[in-house]
Amino acid sequence: MRVLVVGSGGREHALVWKLKQSPRIKQLFAAPGNAGIAELAECADLGASEVRRLADFAAKRGIDLTVVGPELPLTLGIVDEFESRGLRIFGANQRAAILEGSKVFTKRLMKKYKIPTGFFQTFYRVEDAKRYIQDVGAPIVVKADGLASGKGAIVCQTVKEALDAIKIIMEDRVFGDAGEKVVVEEFLCGEEASFLAFTDGETVLPMASSQDHKAVFDDDKGPNTGGMGAYSPAPVVTDEVHRKIMEQVMIPTVKAMAAEGRPYRGVLYAGLMIKGGEPKALEFNARFGDPEAQPLLVRMESDLLPVLEAVVDRRLHEVDIRWRPEPAVCVVMASGGYPGAHEKGKVISGLRAAARLKDVVVFHAGTALSGGKVVTSGGRVLGVTALGKDVPDAIARAYRAVEKIRWEGAHYRTDIGRKGLGRAA
Ligand code: AMP
Ligand code: GLY
Repeated sequence: MRVLVVGSGGREHALVWKLKQSPRIKQLFAAPGNAGIAELAECADLGASEVRRLADFAAKRGIDLTVVGPELPLTLGIVDEFESRGLRIFGANQRAAILEGSKVFTKRLMKKYKIPTGFFQTFYRVEDAKRYIQDVGAPIVVKADGLASGKGAIVCQTVKEALDAIKIIMEDRVFGDAGEKVVVEEFLCGEEASFLAFTDGETVLPMASSQDHKAVFDDDKGPNTGGMGAYSPAPVVTDEVHRKIMEQVMIPTVKAMAAEGRPYRGVLYAGLMIKGGEPKALEFNARFGDPEAQPLLVRMESDLLPVLEAVVDRRLHEVDIRWRPEPAVCVVMASGGYPGAHEKGKVISGLRAAARLKDVVVFHAGTALSGGKVVTSGGRVLGVTALGKDVPDAIARAYRAVEKIRWEGAHYRTDIGRKGLGRAA
């Protein structure tokens, strides 16, 4: 089989790494890929959002299955384009991807179908949003309606911060048209978890639980990023919490999408806040998480390909997934300045020494090859991922690898997995 992975981040490197182990795949392609992916797959010089050109490429190169990593091509309708040409593709179609593409849609869906979430209001006008914020007070969360690379949710501790957030999103349009509408929603406290499942529109097959670290600095300080690290499993998701997430969030959401005439296939990712054993949904994503995919795919013992095919062919009920019992931790190393402006082209050293460590995989995100050297080319640069016999061991292994890697300005959180440690110990 010939398989194409669309995207260029750590998640896509993890997908390529996992699919590389699949005995039925003879040739792997990625578009556009990165320096790490290029060691495992043939990279095509096509952007992840060049939907038509990607379909042309898949048709011409006889690709049997395309796997979509990022959200933007999903919301642009890559799945619809491929399917209209009879090309097999794994991912949510455009009507289903609205679950990630519009927070207004999703909050309304959750309200209509009684899926647990915080209270909220939608605003189209700055003055209305500001008046509401002054009425309800802080803490409060302000979110741009559309896609904003994981940065469009602003958690505000004071009314002033919330009013500023409205200005940034609706007036300054820092996130472009994504800020045409805003959702102002209840601040939920508790512990976060990411819950990902495969679904073919009927069967919902959960993956292992995981936890992201969204804030840029230790102790969840600083602005939100796309994710600075993740670990799996997330001990906050006990068996009982798992059952509630499936019964109250995942299955009802898949059913709700079907009832709305938007049948959902692909990966359904719920970002959850868990308090007192009760889950509430913060958001949904229509794809694998990044960096959650890195620890999850390292822990996945089963072949990934049959699962993806079963989703595409709508026979997911036939499939089961085995997970390695060992936990995995992924530490993201980022460019200096990320999530703000950052320089590119810094030479990265120590990659081979890190990758030689046992049970460590260094997934590339924003990397490129320049003059035979691996250089930085984005905000999140690497996802250094390790398996361990327990959480402390996985953390220690991941950081041992991180310490071998260097470039000018590199930064990373030093507390990835610590929350899991408290519970698991
Ligand atoms: P989102 O883009 O909706 O996932 O939000 C990004 C991050 O902001 C989440 O992972 C949470 O850490 C935080 N967040 C979002 N919504 C809320 C909320 N209602 N209450 C508290 N924190 C939130
Ligand atoms: N790690 C958060 C996300 O993938 O959206």
